[in-house]
Amino acid sequence: MLKILLIFCCIYCVNCALYYDSYYGKTITREELKRHDKANTTFWCVNEIEPCDPNEWRRVDGSCNNLKNPTRGATHTPFYRVLPPIYAKDFEPRKSKSGNDLPLARHLRTHLLSEGRVPSQIFTQLAVNDLVFMSADIVSLHDTVNYIVWKPYCCAPKGKTDRVCVPNKIPDDDPVHRFSDIRCLNMTRPESFQSIGCIKNGTTPERIVSSTPLLDLSVIYGNVLKGLLERGRLFEGGLLKFEVSNGRIFPPSYKTQAHVCFLNERPRETRCHNMPEDGANTLAGINIMAIWFWRLHNFIARQLARVNPCWDDDRLFYTARDINIAISLQIYYYELLPIMLGRQNLIRDGVISPSPGFRNIYNPDIIPQVSLEYPFVLRWVHTMQEGELKMYDKHGYYLKKYPIVNLTLRTGFLDVDDNLDYLTQGTFRQGSANIDYIVDPDIAEIGLGPHQRASDLTTNDVSKNRYFGFQPYVKYRQFCFGHTVKTWDDLIGIIDRERIEVLRDLYENVEDVDLIAAIWVEKPIKGGFVPPTFYCLVVEQLVRNAVSDRHWYESSERPNAFNIEQLLEIRKATIARLLCDVADTVTEIQPHAFLKAGPGNEMCSCKHIPSINFWAWRDNSCYPGDVWKQNPNLREH
Ligand SMILES: *[C@@H]1O[C@H](CO)[C@@H](O)[C@H](O)[C@H]1NC(C)=O
Ligand SMILES: *[C@@H]1O[C@H](CO)[C@@H](O)[C@H](O)[C@H]1NC(C)=O
Ligand SMILES: *[C@@H]1O[C@H](CO)[C@@H](O)[C@H](O)[C@H]1NC(C)=O
Ligand SMILES: *[C@@H]1O[C@H](CO)[C@@H](O)[C@H](O)[C@H]1NC(C)=O
Repeated sequence: MLKILLIFCCIYCVNCALYYDSYYGKTITREELKRHDKANTTFWCVNEIEPCDPNEWRRVDGSCNNLKNPTRGATHTPFYRVLPPIYAKDFEPRKSKSGNDLPLARHLRTHLLSEGRVPSQIFTQLAVNDLVFMSADIVSLHDTVNYIVWKPYCCAPKGKTDRVCVPNKIPDDDPVHRFSDIRCLNMTRPESFQSIGCIKNGTTPERIVSSTPLLDLSVIYGNVLKGLLERGRLFEGGLLKFEVSNGRIFPPSYKTQAHVCFLNERPRETRCHNMPEDGANTLAGINIMAIWFWRLHNFIARQLARVNPCWDDDRLFYTARDINIAISLQIYYYELLPIMLGRQNLIRDGVISPSPGFRNIYNPDIIPQVSLEYPFVLRWVHTMQEGELKMYDKHGYYLKKYPIVNLTLRTGFLDVDDNLDYLTQGTFRQGSANIDYIVDPDIAEIGLGPHQRASDLTTNDVSKNRYFGFQPYVKYRQFCFGHTVKTWDDLIGIIDRERIEVLRDLYENVEDVDLIAAIWVEKPIKGGFVPPTFYCLVVEQLVRNAVSDRHWYESSERPNAFNIEQLLEIRKATIARLLCDVADTVTEIQPHAFLKAGPGNEMCSCKHIPSINFWAWRDNSCYPGDVWKQNPNLREH
């Protein structure tokens, strides 16, 4: 009898989804699910997961990446921490060694970073855009929306009584605001599994990954299957939905006005992208990159359909998505990061392979997660962001400029006056901000544009550093390089002497120094341009990302893996080719478009930029009668 029951049970559940606790990753009972439904916490605290099939494509929600831990890799799961957090009482920011408060975040920022505009002679704005776009894959703007939309009173008296409000005080002698009446910058405490009601309050706050933790173009394909199915796919030819406006191709736009593009200047500006995630209607750089990768999907799907006329919509769609993700990773890992972090450094540390063949590095014992340190240290890139975007025509004639802070949550701007064409030209013609101790005044004083009277992204970075509970800089230094910093003099050689003196004036003890504060002033790494501790924490995650992803594109053992001919085609992907293929009016570009054009990297016609040959994906079953064997020359086109 028992046996029969068991068998019945198994058959009954073969196709039914299981419910998991999103924090612990363990299955939960029906009763627990009901409890969450009642408390309206199901969305964040529960993962509903269909049984895994080891041979299926990468799932949009990231589940089943790790077959032993089906929820890990999925949305709404916990971050990994490189070092355990440290807090004061009640999970307030840690104190200095002496027990005093750490220096005010805004005070630190104004003393460590000056404001100004110095253009890089090395990197283009495109390099910053790609970095920001790739980090948008794993982070969300929830915390920002929180203090702009949901808790707009953090600097008002009401904010004093709401624990969620943690605004930043501006000192009276502030170099800018001594001339204004502003003494407070809005901010809210970072959301956590506790604040959202998934786990008990009174335990260490644990951040939630609101996207999928692995790099899988979440901005394009979303995090939930429903979003992709309802808002994304055209269900024809493997394509994503699209619209044509003024002869330009865009993702579909909302038909109603209720959406996130708060800054669209109506009635002229109406475009607001109805993509699976609203992540593509946020910062200007992300929005532009998202349009390109959206178009790239359709470009790939059309090429595949031409090569394989017998493929159905599903096959075209999933193959195009897989290639699109692979191209985004190839460009990030092999083109952008090597020029910033140093190619030899990345080869030495196992981030990239020195040879073009397969790389089978999957390790099922490493859980697909993202470290909290990784997206955090990427905020250092705020200091590389230019405040004024320059616009050029297709011949490179400078036309005008526009403040980037006025373009946040304003997708509609791209669709009028040929702005997208001119901004596109600017991305590879304009330098990024130089890597130095200088931050653009718009980033440091306006930040969110018209949404706030004042905001300083870099002050928020210091403040978040503390609310995330990161250990002091010296502990990360120890973790990364194995050496102990006990005195200020131990920093000689790591940080310029005059910057050590500034830090000494700001902090009581070298062991008090905040992680981001030191990253701002560290001398660049050998062979690259970035601060060494930034390098270390970025690389730590990039390796985890590659080895913990069962669907990593360089593997020959993953489901639907590329064959070697296909992988070698993916290796040809460059950001220059991407722009030639899908951006408007780009007919000439420098081959290394993350770097400024110049001797050795001259602008040239797109005809001379290598491109992927999609005939590597030919499927002989589409060609009955062995046309390939009879006519091998066909493969040239
Ligand atoms: C329930 O939670 C969802 C997602 O967090 C939210 O959008 C919705 O407003 C909540 N509903 C109620 C009644 O609180
Ligand atoms: C923790 O406290 C916050 C309010 O500060 C509340 O919204 C949340 O639901 C609480 N979490 C739990 C698990 O009770
Ligand atoms: C940008 O926004 C500010 C308001 O925050 C406004 O004063 C300014 O004129 C805007 N700049 C442009 C070029 O539209
Ligand atoms: C704080 O937020 C409120 C609501 O968005 C806004 O009115 C106020 O100007 C903000 N404060 C500052 C200093 O920007």
